[in-house]
Amino acid sequence: MLHRLLLWLSLTGLALAQPDSTGLFYALRSELSEDAILVANNGIRVPFGRSVFIDPINDLVIQTQPGDRCSITVLDNDPLSQRPGHLSPKKFPCDFGPNDVTYSHFGSRSPAKDRVRLHLRYDAQTETVIIPFMMEVEVVFTQLELLTKNMPLSVANLKGISNPIDKKILEFTYDRDSYKCEVTSLSSGSALPRYGRLVDGGKLSSMMDCDEFTQADIRYEHTFDRKSPNRDYVPMVVELHDKEGNLVKQEYFHLMIRIKGGEENTAPKPSFVSMMMMEVSQFVMTALTPDMLAAEDAESDPDELIFNITSPLSYEEGYIVSTDDRNLPITSFYQRDLRDLKIAYKPPSLDSDTERIFQLEFQVVDTDGAVSDPFAFMIVVKPMNSLAPVVTRNTGQLLYEGQSRPLFTAHNLEISDEDNLDAVTITVVDGLRHGDLMVLGSHRKLFTPGDLMTGVVVYQHDGSDTYSDNIVFKMSDGKNEVEFLFPITIVPTDDEPPIINANTGLVLFKNQMMPISPLMLSAADIDSEDSTIKFTIVPPFSTIGTVLLRQSDAPEDPSSWKFNAEDEVYEKEVTEWLQKDITDGKLFYKHTGPHNTDTIMDQFVFTVQDDNDPPNESGESVFVIRVLPIDDVPPELFPGTTLQMTVQEHKLTHFSKEVLRYTDLDSEDRDLKYTVIQPPIDTDENNPVLFGSLVLTDRPDTEVTEFTQAQINHHKISYGPPDVELGITAHVVQFRYTVEDTAGNSAEGAFTIYLQPVNNKPPQITNTGFTVFERGMHILSVAELDATDLRHREQTDYLYSNPAPKTWPGSGCIH
Ligand SMILES: *[C@@H]1O[C@H](CO)[C@@H](O)[C@H](O)[C@H]1NC(C)=O
Ligand SMILES: *[C@@H]1O[C@H](CO)[C@@H](O)[C@H](O)[C@H]1NC(C)=O
Repeated sequence: MLHRLLLWLSLTGLALAQPDSTGLFYALRSELSEDAILVANNGIRVPFGRSVFIDPINDLVIQTQPGDRCSITVLDNDPLSQRPGHLSPKKFPCDFGPNDVTYSHFGSRSPAKDRVRLHLRYDAQTETVIIPFMMEVEVVFTQLELLTKNMPLSVANLKGISNPIDKKILEFTYDRDSYKCEVTSLSSGSALPRYGRLVDGGKLSSMMDCDEFTQADIRYEHTFDRKSPNRDYVPMVVELHDKEGNLVKQEYFHLMIRIKGGEENTAPKPSFVSMMMMEVSQFVMTALTPDMLAAEDAESDPDELIFNITSPLSYEEGYIVSTDDRNLPITSFYQRDLRDLKIAYKPPSLDSDTERIFQLEFQVVDTDGAVSDPFAFMIVVKPMNSLAPVVTRNTGQLLYEGQSRPLFTAHNLEISDEDNLDAVTITVVDGLRHGDLMVLGSHRKLFTPGDLMTGVVVYQHDGSDTYSDNIVFKMSDGKNEVEFLFPITIVPTDDEPPIINANTGLVLFKNQMMPISPLMLSAADIDSEDSTIKFTIVPPFSTIGTVLLRQSDAPEDPSSWKFNAEDEVYEKEVTEWLQKDITDGKLFYKHTGPHNTDTIMDQFVFTVQDDNDPPNESGESVFVIRVLPIDDVPPELFPGTTLQMTVQEHKLTHFSKEVLRYTDLDSEDRDLKYTVIQPPIDTDENNPVLFGSLVLTDRPDTEVTEFTQAQINHHKISYGPPDVELGITAHVVQFRYTVEDTAGNSAEGAFTIYLQPVNNKPPQITNTGFTVFERGMHILSVAELDATDLRHREQTDYLYSNPAPKTWPGSGCIH
């Protein structure tokens, strides 16, 4: 972006105007007024460890006219900016919405303020304005809600191991029935922890359940070899999701480690082996080199030390720039940038006959945020010696990675000397770390203005992924010497496909839907914009799950989307999406089935590509999804089971698995539990009375309303018919039950019993005998001889017979 900006500045020939009191430059030379565009910039307040949206009505108000184009870019050229948190996206339109731009605080106690540098670019019909500005961020230290305890770990001695991260260290408070809490370390991609590492057995490479995390015996191991500070920090994030997988809360925090035996971090200090001054020739852009300015620190990597300019130069005193953008004064830089010759002093354009001395004040900041005392740095600007050689033009060189270019084309570098140009030689004194100078085809460090003029001085870049290769030249005419910085800016060619920087996979339950967060899947591209990286699923597609985009705002083209009325979101199955969709929380995976009794794996194979034309495409990667079983299917009737049996009157009859058997995919069949929900009832519509009961086979007087399949299999449960005579008709009795598996899924059923009458009792006989006169006749009546049987109501059905006719006395007969 900076390169493009530079190019554009030179193409449009926009002149840079005066710096304002903040030391920033306003490229304004127009009727477009800055105040009319950037109407208000009130700063934001971010709650500790959390994120806020930038409000386009109250926080940052930008006025645009219809038809004009306007966008804002977050600058990342200030090492002291965006340390406690991060503004995203990196580029956004001026008419951003209330939920489009966020500042996320990463949970460190210090610093408590941030200043984000931004660039607003406004394109009207006839002109373009660039407004650099700062957004002030204040961290508001309110309690986290999810992480309710955060105590330091401690390491008893150097190179030791800490106590485990358990509930005495971290406590998460949430409703465990309704929400899922997950936590992970953010140390990959971060400089923290600085002096050790977490020993987690790889468990924290993906999100981990909060309760499992505090039981997993994860510890910190101190590994630092040099003089160690007594504090270290592990950056972490905890997330709360609801049952549907929606992110409900997200909190960043730092886990502190006390290193006993470590020492209090010491502040960095300026290194007085450096001169703390520089001498420059009037008008000559001069590099600040490590022999002029240096700092040291007992604990930090020297490259990571930051110089903060605490009292900037005034406009008449020139300014400090980075060669990444030589038109934008900077207020801080890394010591590494000094070594790379990227920091330069640009003297004022005002002429002077006398030597001028300007003073800058610096502080050094180390990686822990400790600050040195302020110290002074002198700049001596010498008047021009009219007889010395002069650089009359120095635009620097801009070339693509791996290219070679003559230094003297399009007037990159022009040198003159009033009296003896022929005697002038130019030599390389520093820099040139990623390329070579060739003069007439051979490696040389020395050339003449004549060589430049004829275009035989060629810079050849080595093709590495470097963005600058500045050179300090010294020109001499034999008597006078002048040093100057020649910036070489290397524009990366987009020759690298994006790389996957997070791919943890996903764990969910059967039929669940979960968002795929940037912690699980993310890609980055060194030479193009990350948000437009495109993910594409390579066929064949999964048959057991789908990838979805979900959003609550109405999509631009609603035709390919479906509205899910239950969740009130628009949904669309996709096979490609952008990195932005992931960071916006729109990407979901949904397991669609079928039922699994064991954990099964789903996956999608995907590639990523950048937005070049043609795009650079990565190789294939695999995103793995573990689908945990969830028992949500009810038991089913075992095939061939009759659900009926025939019972003889009065006969206690046990059930067997042939007649009553259910089976379940996830539970053992024998654990299935039956509950009688309607006891045995006569199905006779006219007389639906209770009819018998279910009892224990061994103790028929014990009625049961609950039993298991195991009891059925072992014949422990019986039907006890009622103790009444049935008469002659069969009865059909039915009872209803539910059958439930161990996870509580249940099915309902009915069991039918055919109760057969059995004639097991003789008819009751009335036999009074009678008296008859000799030769008389007596008509037998039911009063004297009768038979009744409970099962036979029709009296006419009884057959009377004489069981022993031979013994009949022979004195009478029956007609
Ligand atoms: C850097 O300097 C500026 C200007 O004096 C000051 O406001 C800021 O707090 C300093 N930053 C640090 C980290 O010391
Ligand atoms: C990336 O794309 C550029 C432009 O299409 C192409 O020249 C280059 O070879 C590609 N590189 C790779 C590694 O695919």
